[in-house]
Amino acid sequence: MNFTLKIWRQKDAKSKGAFESYKVENISADTSFLEMLDILNNNLIHEGKEPVAFDHDCREGICGMCSLHIDGQAHGPSQGATTCQIYMRKFKDGATITIEPWRSAAFPVIKDLVVNRSAYDQILQAGGFISVRTNSVPDANAIPISQADAEEAMDAAARRMTGLLADINLLTACHPEFSLERWIAAARGFGSDNASKDYYETNARMLISVWGDSYHLTDYASRTWSGMISTYYAPRWRLFIERVMEAARTGRMFDHEAFDREIRDFECRWADASHPLTFPEAGDAVRTARELASKYKPLFDAER
Ligand code: FES
Repeated sequence: MNFTLKIWRQKDAKSKGAFESYKVENISADTSFLEMLDILNNNLIHEGKEPVAFDHDCREGICGMCSLHIDGQAHGPSQGATTCQIYMRKFKDGATITIEPWRSAAFPVIKDLVVNRSAYDQILQAGGFISVRTNSVPDANAIPISQADAEEAMDAAARRMTGLLADINLLTACHPEFSLERWIAAARGFGSDNASKDYYETNARMLISVWGDSYHLTDYASRTWSGMISTYYAPRWRLFIERVMEAARTGRMFDHEAFDREIRDFECRWADASHPLTFPEAGDAVRTARELASKYKPLFDAER
């Protein structure tokens, strides 16, 4: 996404300020507003210009330091969210965004978008606060949830996860660039007979999975490819989910070591060319993308 930013620049508390315009380009929709300002500042520094001063602290929507006026609204266009919790998808591509500091006599501008907040301290020092014990939010782990509800929630999360993997597999199957089948066919092409073809295929499988016999480099060269997702990543996740659910059902601790051994066996079996794989059929990229976009639209909308 590309934006034009009209930003209030002011050298110090005594100087007269003015708006200056800047362009930012190729900004991901998932970039936060403050990250977008970081990108701008990075560009300005590279151009030998003064970066824009702005306040922030937690960047988690807790402290309220990121106090900007964006397009005339305190903290910008989202309801009940601070500036640091606004993402660029909230704006139209190509939009001009006006960014100002707080406009209040009690909070004079110190520099650019930063204001002097000591008026708050003076209110507190003068006793302008109350002290009432309102209790804290209960610890989520302390809220009793029935076994059946917990299992249902885990089951629903697991179905969402495996469904997502199946959809990524479908989408990547639409282009040969993302195809495990092509990778394996190319490897087998190096061989001259079945034994040497199997040898090359095993090597090709190992490269993108266990990477030799060292456990440390497993997934070092992972690939988001059709066939790879359906035959390797998804089954591994399913195994993990099954073992976690079993532990929850039986009230036993999840056995990490046993699970690691089981997964390692699966990975080594997968990397061995004597275990045949089945590959998904290639689909139509545009149709598949449209179907998935409409399937996930409610989730994207809920995020906004
Ligand atoms: S930086 Fe703390 S709420 Fe935004």
